[in-house]
Amino acid sequence: EWADKGAAKIVRDVTNPKTGQTTREVIRKGIKDFKFGDTLGDGSYSTVMVATSKENGKKYAVKILSKEYLIRQKKVKYVNIEKNALQRLNNSRGIIKLYFTFQDESSLYFLLEYAPNGDFLSVMKKFGSLSEECACYYSAQIIDAINFLHTKGIIHRDIKPENILLDKEMKVKLTDFGTAKILEPKQQSHGSGPSYDLLTRSKSFVGTAEYVSPELLNDNWVDYRCDIWAFGCILFQMIAGKPPFKATNEYLTFQKVMKVQYAFTAGFPLVIRDLVKRTLIKQPDQRLTIPQIERHHFFKDKNFKDGSVWEEPAPEIQPYRM
Ligand code: ADE
Repeated sequence: EWADKGAAKIVRDVTNPKTGQTTREVIRKGIKDFKFGDTLGDGSYSTVMVATSKENGKKYAVKILSKEYLIRQKKVKYVNIEKNALQRLNNSRGIIKLYFTFQDESSLYFLLEYAPNGDFLSVMKKFGSLSEECACYYSAQIIDAINFLHTKGIIHRDIKPENILLDKEMKVKLTDFGTAKILEPKQQSHGSGPSYDLLTRSKSFVGTAEYVSPELLNDNWVDYRCDIWAFGCILFQMIAGKPPFKATNEYLTFQKVMKVQYAFTAGFPLVIRDLVKRTLIKQPDQRLTIPQIERHHFFKDKNFKDGSVWEEPAPEIQPYRM
């Protein structure tokens, strides 16, 4: 029933220096190997805590999920999606790494990369807004990380500032793939790895009201372009200090989203205004694509092709002043 078993395994090949014979050692990781610390966050069906390896002191974020709760709330499917998505995306810039998974009687454990600088929402709240330079630095990494997961056939469907974590160097790490859509590879004769039909439409649920795309509210389906919509909302928020579609309740927020009813704050930089306007477009096929976003004037000093958006040091965080 719990699809996991193998992932907690560490396989080590040990060669005997005398005989030259190599044997394979299998070491199973379990909760006994970690010391649990502070709580980092509570989700609706999980808790995330700091976990420190007893062997080498390395810190992880452990996501703990109660089996009983998952079954009762019918959330087992989402846990498997999260694990499968993270495994497909492993070792990629801009995505939180999944190191091990294991379980005991009561719970499932996901040992994730620890992002010590918290989430992007807290940063934006602390500073109120972000300077153009900061907005450029963070949005470049966010769009490039989204691009990467799309090339791997994964649509996140709930991109929002809480799901954008910051590592020790203030580099972006996307997390929370429980509501992702994992696409099947296209049939291919040969070539350079699998490819995916990103236009595959999937029925969806409402992610988070403020970042949800109009096509989901209108027709109850989305494709990869819902993540681009969310990117536009977050970019707006970096400068304005609040998401573009926000009302006193969800219903009124949805009304605004469906009408694409938002207004730029006074002094909103023209170049970012232009990019936001071309991204927050009701018709998904009229929205800028990721390559078009990466070529936009706002990113004229960024090089996405050589990965340098991931290498430059983070600018000092400052609020936007008009
Ligand atoms: N909160 C949720 N997941 C986290 C992680 N991987 N690192 C730090 N804080 C988190």
